[in-house]
Amino acid sequence: MKYYILFGPPGAGKGTQATAMVEKYNLNHISTGALLRKEIAAGTELGIQAKTLIEKGCLVPDEVVEGMIENEFKTVTGVDGFLLDGFPRTLPQADALDQILARNGSEVTATVSIMIPDEMIMERIKGRALKEGRADDASEDIINNRIVTYHNQTEPLIEYYSKAGKYNEIDGIGTIDEVRDRIFSVMDKF
Ligand code: AP5
Ligand code: MG
Repeated sequence: MKYYILFGPPGAGKGTQATAMVEKYNLNHISTGALLRKEIAAGTELGIQAKTLIEKGCLVPDEVVEGMIENEFKTVTGVDGFLLDGFPRTLPQADALDQILARNGSEVTATVSIMIPDEMIMERIKGRALKEGRADDASEDIINNRIVTYHNQTEPLIEYYSKAGKYNEIDGIGTIDEVRDRIFSVMDKF
């Protein structure tokens, strides 16, 4: 089984590119953000707790997303691997992922990171807000907090996976097709 991490700041194009990636490499797409939004929509206890944090642009507790990931690994079959979109995004989550995979004799295959500058994050998310109406896209303040959260809590993972020889960065500026082709040329190596 392959375990790919789809990394990148908010609005970098992770969700957009995931569709083509899962199709080409027969992967299961796990977006922790999408799973949390599903819990919110269903009004579960977990969703109610996550809602306040997400709508402020903060992260939900590590244990919550770690549990979700472990559950998906156990229940999904018939694929050649997993594409983790938006997970891990803290050092403790990266450590937990290593431990979960090690228990099954596996490890992270590669990190594919889509990188765009902060100004472009704002521009792309504002564009999406007009189409999708995500609560955490609703104001510049929330988007800015997501950017700050990314720099403080998630960016350290670049060093973590670089040291492990598993970090592959792709320029996220360009058309959706151009970025997709750059991603494919990296993934074809694994
Ligand atoms: P999550 O859903 O993961 O959101 P995110 O990381 O902020 O990323 P986005 O989904 O906003 O962006 P994306 O990279 O998928 O971009 P997209 O493809 O849509 O997480 C939401 C929240 O859940 C978090 O803030 C946190 O609270 C919580 N959470 C989730 N995971 C967690 C975890 N592991 N730990 C703790 N908390 C967690 O593209 C954006 C827009 O740009 C679209 O409109 C798209 O059409 C457009 N676009 C894409 N590519 C291009 C291109 N090349 N050119 C022009 N436009 C483009
Ligand atoms: Mg997304």
